[in-house]
Amino acid sequence: MKPKDGFELPPSPPTLPIIGHLHLLLSGSTHKSLQKLSSRYGPLFHLNIFSVPVIFVSSASVAYEIFREHEVNFSLRGTPPIDESLLVGSFGFFTAPYGGYWKFMKKQMVTKLLGPQALERSRGIRGYEREGFHASLLDKAVKNESVEIGKEEMKFANNIICKMIMGRSCNEENGEAERVRDLVAESTALTMMIFVANMFQRPLKKLGITLFRKEIMSVSHRFNEVLERILEEHERKKDNYHDMDLMDVLLETCRDETAEYRITRNHIKSLFVDLVIAGSDTSRHATQWTMAEIINNPNVLERLREEIGSVVGKTRLVQESDLQNLPYLQATVKEGLRLHPPGALFARSSREGCKIRGFYIPENTPLVVNVYAVMRDPDTWEDPNEFKPERFLGFPCSGQQDERDHALKYIPFGSGRRGCPGSNLAYIIVGTAIGVMVQCFDWKIKADEVDMEEAPRALVLTMADHLSVFLLLAPADSKFLTWRCH
Ligand code: HEM
Repeated sequence: MKPKDGFELPPSPPTLPIIGHLHLLLSGSTHKSLQKLSSRYGPLFHLNIFSVPVIFVSSASVAYEIFREHEVNFSLRGTPPIDESLLVGSFGFFTAPYGGYWKFMKKQMVTKLLGPQALERSRGIRGYEREGFHASLLDKAVKNESVEIGKEEMKFANNIICKMIMGRSCNEENGEAERVRDLVAESTALTMMIFVANMFQRPLKKLGITLFRKEIMSVSHRFNEVLERILEEHERKKDNYHDMDLMDVLLETCRDETAEYRITRNHIKSLFVDLVIAGSDTSRHATQWTMAEIINNPNVLERLREEIGSVVGKTRLVQESDLQNLPYLQATVKEGLRLHPPGALFARSSREGCKIRGFYIPENTPLVVNVYAVMRDPDTWEDPNEFKPERFLGFPCSGQQDERDHALKYIPFGSGRRGCPGSNLAYIIVGTAIGVMVQCFDWKIKADEVDMEEAPRALVLTMADHLSVFLLLAPADSKFLTWRCH
């Protein structure tokens, strides 16, 4: 669709010469300044980054229109900033255009890793890791050491995801696990730069400038070292496996000249990088924010304990299969994700020009959905800034209510075919971690309340201060906890 008379870009604030609205994007908290701009310029506005327009969406009703009427058109994420990088490069799944490669990899991912049957098969892995998570917290409680919730959750999520992808966790003894976790944290810290680099690349590439190349390539090289070793190890054991994990399947595809889609080792390594980053750091932040809200809301803690006590009892640890019978725990996780979505912004790009709300969006235009603003939109949420898990009791799982409201109001995992394929796994990881922490421990913090300040310039919503707590065993009469202490 070509622009015609009367078609124009959505509204926009006054611009500065040359840089356009660049200064508005580089403020301390991008999602909040974009939210503020939307209250002035409406839920669909644009900013010029140098001379390139970027569209911003901040309401549930505009999100609905885009994801119901223009979903395929916005199924791209734009061009990767650095082709050869394993992190957001051109071999990646996250950055892949919507097409043959993306469809092939998505099929493998669903059947081998993230679909309901694959999740059922890997339940044992998560059960083992849940016990380890509990044991580690218990050890610290007994020794009266402080616990950094985010660090413990990162280990828990990372071990689960690595084991599910490649049949083993990263090795703790030789420092490999720590290296992967550090690389994930480093990559997340780079996401703001990558996001910015992605938007600026069109004007800057013309000048031969690639932003943040050194930082991105340094992480990519170090990921490559670890992953090459892991791939070689997988190849050595190839003759004696029975149950192939995702890495085995992809290595076999890599060797098969008649495969449906020809992939290389770089595709496998990039997929691994995408999955560990997408899965472990998001779960870490989601758990940390939700636990902080629970600590600041003793009535929620009380209600969670009662629910877990009546469904699970006090003689065994809460487990994955209990989650379906713990609606208040599920509602608490959802409410944590609504108020503090780890992916506060996500970006897509238009394949061709289209019209939204009477405005014209040209082809190849970046479009950013402000998840944070949509999930605090006062037109669709009552008391949008309050932590109220009750609002999710009876909330439809399938989005039928959204359909009736003509709004897409709950989008912590994005939407449509490029929406997060790991949402079910994420609910399991975060739900069981919070279940264990609530069931087995009481919490002591240094101040009266946890400070809910956000870290500046973080694209993955991060607490300004790590949530550090002292654990006390609770409830006092849980026998299974005391025998584990001795
Ligand atoms: C609390 C945890 C998580 C949150 C908040 C989250 C959020 C998101 C968001 C907002 C997107 C972009 C969606 C869009 O463009 O519509 C995304 C994409 C993605 N997520 Fe997640 N995610 C989480 C956990 C996971 C897990 C556990 C995995 C897998 C191990 C995963 C794998 C992915 C992948 C592969 C994509 C790219 C999908 C594509 O481009 O087709 N995520 N996630």
